[in-house]
Order: sequence, then C-alpha cells, then structure tokens
Amino acid sequence: MRAAVCRALGPPEVVEIEELPAPTLGPGQVRVRVGAAAVNFPDVLLVAGEYQIKAPLPFVVGSEFAGTVAEVAAEVDELAVGDRVTGTGLTDAFATEIVVAAGSLTAAPAGLSDADAAAAGVAHRTAIHVLRSIVRLAPGEEVVVLGAGGGVGLAAVQLGVALGARVTAVASSDDKLAVAAEHGAAHLVRHGEADLRGSLRDTLPDGADVVVDPVGGDLAEPALRALRYGGRFVSVGYASGTIPRIPLNLVLLKGIEVRGFEFGGFATHEPEAMRRNEAELRDLLESGRVRPHIGATFTLDDTAAALRHVADGRAVGKVLIDVAGATAASPVR
Ligand SMILES: NC(=O)c1ccc[n+]([C@@H]2O[C@H](COP(=O)([O-])OP(=O)(O)OC[C@H]3O[C@@H](n4cnc5c(N)ncnc54)[C@H](OP(=O)(O)O)[C@@H]3O)[C@@H](O)[C@H]2O)c1
Repeated sequence: MRAAVCRALGPPEVVEIEELPAPTLGPGQVRVRVGAAAVNFPDVLLVAGEYQIKAPLPFVVGSEFAGTVAEVAAEVDELAVGDRVTGTGLTDAFATEIVVAAGSLTAAPAGLSDADAAAAGVAHRTAIHVLRSIVRLAPGEEVVVLGAGGGVGLAAVQLGVALGARVTAVASSDDKLAVAAEHGAAHLVRHGEADLRGSLRDTLPDGADVVVDPVGGDLAEPALRALRYGGRFVSVGYASGTIPRIPLNLVLLKGIEVRGFEFGGFATHEPEAMRRNEAELRDLLESGRVRPHIGATFTLDDTAAALRHVADGRAVGKVLIDVAGATAASPVR
C-alpha cells in the first residue's frame, strides 16, 4: 500500500510517501480501502511532536478517513465487504488502506461521497456536541464563532445557522468571511486590523449569548467581553498556539458560564448525549441541510503540502486528501 509516513518529528515537510507492506488483519478487525481522508490540525501537531499524545515513530499520518470495507476478519459480523464507512483515530488514515477494529467504524452518511463523509467528521461532530450539549444553543440566540473559516469554526457556523441561531463569524481574512457568509453567518468581523472588542461591540451592541472558541490566544478575552450577562463561553482548542488566561473578574461581573469541550471526556461522561447529537448530525447531513465545505483537495503524493496548508492557518473549511484519486484533477482546488 502507499502511505504518508512520518519517520522523524518536525514540520509537515518531513512526511514522505512510501510503499509499505499492507497491514495484516487481526481478530475483530476490518480492512478499509480509503477513498478520502481529512486533515485535522492535530495531524500537524502530532508530526511536530507537539500534540498532547505522542505516536511512536515511524507512523502513518492521518486521523480521519472514509472508504469501503475490503476485508473482514472471520468473527466480524456487523460489517461486510463493500460497506461504506468512516473512521477516526490518532494515525494511519493517509494511506490507500487501513486496518482498524470493526467497532471503531461508523456507517458513512447515506448519499455522501467519500470526500464529503471524511470532511463531515471530527469538525462537525465537535461543533454539534459543543452547540447542543455544552452551550445548549437555543433558536434566535446570538453566537460568536472564532476561527470561523477553519474546520471546527465553519462547522459551528453551519450548525449554528441550522439550529436557528444568528451567527457572527470572526476570521482573519475576507476570503474566510465570505465563505462563512455563504454558509449563513449574519455578521462578519475581520480581526487583526481593528480592535476585536470594539468591532464586536459595534456588531452586537446588546452582547452575544454564546462564544465558540477553537483559536484561543489574543482573541479569547475580547470575545468573552462581548458576552451579555449570563452568556456562555466554550473553549474548544488553541489553534493560535497560545492558551489564553481569562481574568475571572470578567466572568464574575457578568455571571458568565465558561466551559470546555474535549472528545474523550465527553464520550466517557455523556455517551447518551453523544449518540443523540450524532444522530441529529447524520440527519442534517443526509437531508442535505448541512454540507461540509471542502476548501482544498490534495493528492496523497501532496500530503506534506496539505499539512502545510493547515499548519499555516490557510485552511478554509476542510482540507481533503483524495486518496483514491477520485476527485482531484489538479493538486489543489
Ligand atoms: N476539543 C476537541 O475535542 C477538539 C476537536 C477538534 C478540534 N479541536 C481543536 O480546535 C482547534 C481548531 O481546529 P480546526 O480543525 O478548526 O483548525 P483549522 O481548520 O486549521 O482552523 C483553525 C483556525 O484558527 C485560526 N488561527 C489563528 N492562529 C493560527 C495559527 N497560528 N495557525 C493556524 N490557525 C490559526 C485560523 O483562523 P483565522 O485565520 O481566522 O484567525 C484558522 O482558521 C485546534 O486547536 C484543534 O486541535 C479540538
């Protein structure tokens, strides 16, 4: 099989494409022919050795894929050859095939291509859990989304709109904001040039109900200040590279609720909410009410460039690796 391999930690460019022996199938496992894989920010961190979990070297990069079951171990009866599935893990997705535990796979949403199924994974699941269970978003509420052009941010824009909220998208470029507007954002705020606190006050003079923050750094505090009394702030990630420190007096004065979201903890402690939210997401995807935005598609040979695209904060929506060569006429679209 062909795979994107990391043999030494470093920048995206350390990742090289190699021909490797196909992994053997163990008990309870399934072999999937990968059609498409999505790049996530933690893939970059893992290659750099900066993720909270370390993968032993060498490893095949990639945490999210969609494809078709090609082989099942004898005792697996819940999946059959030909089933279309999606999967997430720490590594191994940027390869023509992957062997995983049958129970770790999910049926691909009906009617979605491998590209769309891979693109609607971690980012959209994160966004639905955050909006439904962490901040309990209600129709008509004002939600500010930081990093609104990125994977999690744009998914939060789409799902916030689908759940009936009014979304203020915050991003660094007009291109990213234009895409957020295409997906229904009511207000657009470009950060970087003007003071974010002032821009948000002008945009939402009565304050916001909710802030979704996958970026952290210098944006978190001004966004938190934009909340009205009793507002909710959720910390989802630190794509800026800096974990912000929030003065607690701001929380005290406005009765603000600050929460965090992390997949592992949520899955362990709120399995019923997780199941319910993901069923709702599946309905939204299968009905076409929400469709992931694929901002760029790279071939497997160009995996390092795909990782670089994400590392540099240039991703708009999801960045895809077209492993099967089904959609990419050119390296990037
Ligand atoms: N808690 C969880 O379970 C969970 C789940 C999924 C993801 N995450 C985390 O959420 C964060 C966002 O993930 P994502 O998939 O949305 O990433 P992404 O697609 O790369 O988007 C991240 C956004 O962050 C902003 N940014 C600011 N400084 C940046 C920098 N130095 N490098 C890159 N981006 C920068 C960019 O927005 P602007 O250009 O508009 O500023 C960018 O669009 C990551 O930290 C990821 O690990 C957490």
